[in-house]
Amino acid sequence: MSDEYTSPAVSELPPFEQGRHLLSVSQFDLPGLRQLFALADAVDVIAKRRAVCTVLDGAMLGSLFFEPSTRTRLSFESAFLRLGGEVTTTTGFTFSSMAKGESIADTARVVSGYSDALVVRHPEVGSVAQFAAASTVPVINAGDGTGEHPSQALLDVYTLEKELAVRDKKVDGCRIAVIGDLRYGRTVHSLLKLLSLYSEITFQVFAPPSLELPEGIAQYVRQRGHNVSVYDSVIAAVANADVVYATRVQRERMTHELAQANTNGDLLNRALLAEAGNLDVVIMHPLPRDSRPDSYDLSADVDELPGLAIFHQTDNGLNIRMAVFLTALGVNIDAVTLTTKQRPWKAALRS
Ligand code: NCD
Repeated sequence: MSDEYTSPAVSELPPFEQGRHLLSVSQFDLPGLRQLFALADAVDVIAKRRAVCTVLDGAMLGSLFFEPSTRTRLSFESAFLRLGGEVTTTTGFTFSSMAKGESIADTARVVSGYSDALVVRHPEVGSVAQFAAASTVPVINAGDGTGEHPSQALLDVYTLEKELAVRDKKVDGCRIAVIGDLRYGRTVHSLLKLLSLYSEITFQVFAPPSLELPEGIAQYVRQRGHNVSVYDSVIAAVANADVVYATRVQRERMTHELAQANTNGDLLNRALLAEAGNLDVVIMHPLPRDSRPDSYDLSADVDELPGLAIFHQTDNGLNIRMAVFLTALGVNIDAVTLTTKQRPWKAALRS
């Protein structure tokens, strides 16, 4: 097992609440998680645009993404806009003054002067915490290298609860197969730590050679009373699981040789699930799914299976990110006025 996995000193972070940064899932306990999920449920009418909300009128989000992103950036920005706020954005190093050598601290001090909240993604572990240290407004970690991705773990667990509930199951006591690149995939690191708040979960892990789960994460989970079983095939890991969480090989984070070594076939497909006798399993993935040939990822041939939850995850991301902003900015949703508006364009699009 490898050992580079997480941002330094995250265990000392305060609980996530009004005015606080969100840097790690370690900022949540079970009541805090319940509160955030209740908020995510409450904003569903706004997320689905059945009601209009302008509670963040006048507030500005600074969105800074120094690594590629589609759903994380767009869902954070959409969440802020849905709540009536405004968004400014910069993407990539090339188009920011970091290309001119500006430090994280200077950048953070400058952009926090223009914003009421910041969402930051950066390729180095611990970089978003450095950003937060110099910011005058709450900073949300949207991924710091191989470190953490707390909002993804929140939406993953929120989705997992719902998927299991419709099957009369609970997160407590469930079996989760976690497969793929468990070494460099930060979503898995945050997910396993957050799920450790529940009880008696069995994690059935499978990773290709050199991409194994960091020992520190396995230890963290075991110390909290969960079981981590390591398997040497996907079929064995998935066989009796309630859920499978698959991840992409993070080729951009590894040596060329290692990236080349993990490039054949599918990580998981319909045939493998059939062989495992588990075609009904709940199928999760943080996305993006690498759809290039031999990418060793989740095949699109599972898309018609009844347990496919990957697009429920992406939809739920909006609710969770709205709840994150309302929490950081101290807005009580019960005091928020919602209005319903006729939207002829919406009806036209859906018909
Ligand atoms: C993930 C990420 O950026 O860590 N994507 C996401 O935010 N949903 C997963 C990945 O890139 O593989």
